Amino acid sequence: MEHLFWPSFKNLHCPPHHPSFHVEPACLPARPLIDCSMLGEHFLGRIIAIANQKGGVGKTTTTVNLGASLAVAEQRTLIVDCDPQANSTGGLGFPRDPARRTLYHGLVLEEAPGRLITKTQVENLDLLPSGKDLAGAPIELVNMDGREFRLGKLLSSVRQSYDFTLLDCPPALDLLTLNALAACDSVLIPIQCEYFALEGVSELLDTLMRIRKSLNSNLAIEGILLTMFDERTTLSRQVSSDLRSFFGGQVFRTVIPRNVRLAEAPSHGKPIIFYDIHSKGAESYLQLAKELITNAKARTREGFERTDSGA
Ligand SMILES: Nc1ncnc2c1ncn2[C@@H]1O[C@H](COP(=O)(O)OP(=O)(O)OP(=O)(O)O)[C@@H](O)[C@H]1O
Ligand SMILES: [Mg+2]
Repeated sequence: MEHLFWPSFKNLHCPPHHPSFHVEPACLPARPLIDCSMLGEHFLGRIIAIANQKGGVGKTTTTVNLGASLAVAEQRTLIVDCDPQANSTGGLGFPRDPARRTLYHGLVLEEAPGRLITKTQVENLDLLPSGKDLAGAPIELVNMDGREFRLGKLLSSVRQSYDFTLLDCPPALDLLTLNALAACDSVLIPIQCEYFALEGVSELLDTLMRIRKSLNSNLAIEGILLTMFDERTTLSRQVSSDLRSFFGGQVFRTVIPRNVRLAEAPSHGKPIIFYDIHSKGAESYLQLAKELITNAKARTREGFERTDSGA
């Protein structure tokens, strides 16, 4: 039987660094959302790129809220904001600041990640921020040695300090996204439940195949995530069923609903679980974190079994 309890939510009562982060205990949901079997296990060093070159499909919303949900499940998590729009950086409560050291300093100027990574308001969640300067990086990187491998190199010294590193990619298949896809173990692809849902997905899958052949032979698909699902519309249900019949088990069971609280949270600089823990959006991202951890556990088990059988 699954034992459900609260310790993973201790951060919600006493978030460490930020006065506005207080959440009244009375605001906590009636039933706990993360089960204790997820806690205390660690999956050192998995890097997941959140990518889809189509814009506005929920990459950043997923990065910020999955990252925070993993963190409250006691998984040490790093978010790397690879997008010059810096929406993950803003969504985690860091206002624009031209003086801030960003991923640009790591990729182009080769500054050590320790100088760039900052703690966030959420315990267990760190950020390697972005800023406007990152927009120039793809051009400056073009003539540099190992231009597609610079992010992997940058993260190599810190990846073992985290259970999960999430890379929020820009809406383009540019050098920043290529660096993310070359650096990661797997890619999580958010797809919006709308009419043009599959537009660009075949191009992205082609790119992943090419990257497997050239830059990253171990690249796996972490899963396809249906976002902005509206259960009231036939269109959402149709798109969801088409994607499931097309991609089968590669689609996460968890579906992210269209939820206005998810859209509001970034303007308060908070992940959804610190903005409105009651919301469907919060529940769905906690559920996604649980599914991701369950999958990581299954992979670890399979790995042990293969080793035991001498394969
Ligand atoms: N499940 C949701 N329900 C309601 N609004 C959402 C949801 N997910 C994302 N949004 C909103 O949709 C917009 C696009 O989301 P987001 O920024 O996460 O997409 P993106 O793929 O990162 O975009 P870009 O390609 O520009 O980086 C944002 O305004 C966000 O707040
Ligand atoms: Mg984004």
